[in-house]
Amino acid sequence: MSHPLLPVGAQTYSKARAAYPANAPEYVDMAIGAHIWGSDGRVYIDCVSALGAILLGHQHPDVDEAVRAQMTLGNASSLPTNLEGQLAERLVGMLPGADWQVRFAKNGADVTSAAVRLARAHTGRDRVLMYGNGYHGAQDWSMTQPPRNAGVPAAVRDMTHFVTCHDLEDIADVMEETRPACMVFEAVVTADPLLPPPGYFQQLRALADRWGVLLVLDEMVTGFRCGLPGAVTQYGIEPDLICFGKGMANGYSTSALVGRREIMQRVERDVFMSSTFGGEPIGLAASLATLAVAEAEQVPVRLADTGLRLAASYTACARRYGLETRLVGYPQRVVMRWADQAQRQAFLEALVDLGLLCPGYINLTLAMTAPNIEAAIAKAIDQAMAAVVGLSVADTSLLS
Ligand SMILES: Cc1ncc(COP(=O)(O)O)c(C=O)c1O
Repeated sequence: MSHPLLPVGAQTYSKARAAYPANAPEYVDMAIGAHIWGSDGRVYIDCVSALGAILLGHQHPDVDEAVRAQMTLGNASSLPTNLEGQLAERLVGMLPGADWQVRFAKNGADVTSAAVRLARAHTGRDRVLMYGNGYHGAQDWSMTQPPRNAGVPAAVRDMTHFVTCHDLEDIADVMEETRPACMVFEAVVTADPLLPPPGYFQQLRALADRWGVLLVLDEMVTGFRCGLPGAVTQYGIEPDLICFGKGMANGYSTSALVGRREIMQRVERDVFMSSTFGGEPIGLAASLATLAVAEAEQVPVRLADTGLRLAASYTACARRYGLETRLVGYPQRVVMRWADQAQRQAFLEALVDLGLLCPGYINLTLAMTAPNIEAAIAKAIDQAMAAVVGLSVADTSLLS
């Protein structure tokens, strides 16, 4: 039973009881590396990775060392620290071409919403496009659809329009009809991670240019995980504004809006983007350390290697046990799709029993690339599928 004083029982819907198999622990007491210690006294491999906010593993030594060092210098200050410029330089250094500027905040929604405001100011238009299955944070412009859109004024709801993911004809039609300020999108939609068809992003750019629409790339989940700095380089996307958050500080709260200078300059003139903790030094120090490790260790490549091997063993297990399930998404973040929902439920509960906290996806982290962790995940998947078809763990050798 979650705490009676807490609606939903967690501060993020995706961390609530309803998001997890029924036998998952209620709370986490401690997290180190690839593991969490649950309130049920058991240790689990954490496939959720704090909804993607952990990129390297819990309590990565370099990141936590940078945080401890910053604590001795003070965290809240009356002037900016020079960490802001250092982190801006590191982010811009990972991006090709254009003349970029950077502004920091704390949550993903801070920067996606600032991007929308900037796009509105820059284009002199009000409407926003997004994919029907997209999510870009809790702000009004992005929360216009049921079931949780109560309290969002109708006038604001009417300003957001939905297009079908990867359907360029639909996108062209809606752009022509609504003349939006911007289209906000993820390179691979977290909720339904279909990979983009070849040439898609180039065609999207051409459409955006044709209709005078700014492209806002949401890298909250893909950032530093599917590429450095994210999908923008991995897929050769040419956005006008890019939003980073979650994993960029390996669990500390920092987000960044990176945009073309001519757009970002409006923050100096007529667009308001400001917050007390926007440049919080601990978050910035954590991010500098995280990005240093991500570059030195080539994190996206390492995660992809592990993810591809896990995907191959997942597919082989599904075939061996005659189960209709497959992995979708990109190798650094795989999502488990099942034809039969009762089987899916049984599989996820079996994974929890076997010590894998997994609500149907794996956000890979550097800690999971350790051979023993990768092997433990693959073994749990094998044994959980065996359990779904009614084989005990001891029986599974008969099938191999
Ligand atoms: C793709 C995407 N964009 C934006 C957000 C919002 O980020 P935050 O919860 O940090 O505001 C999320 C959060 O899950 C997300 O997944």
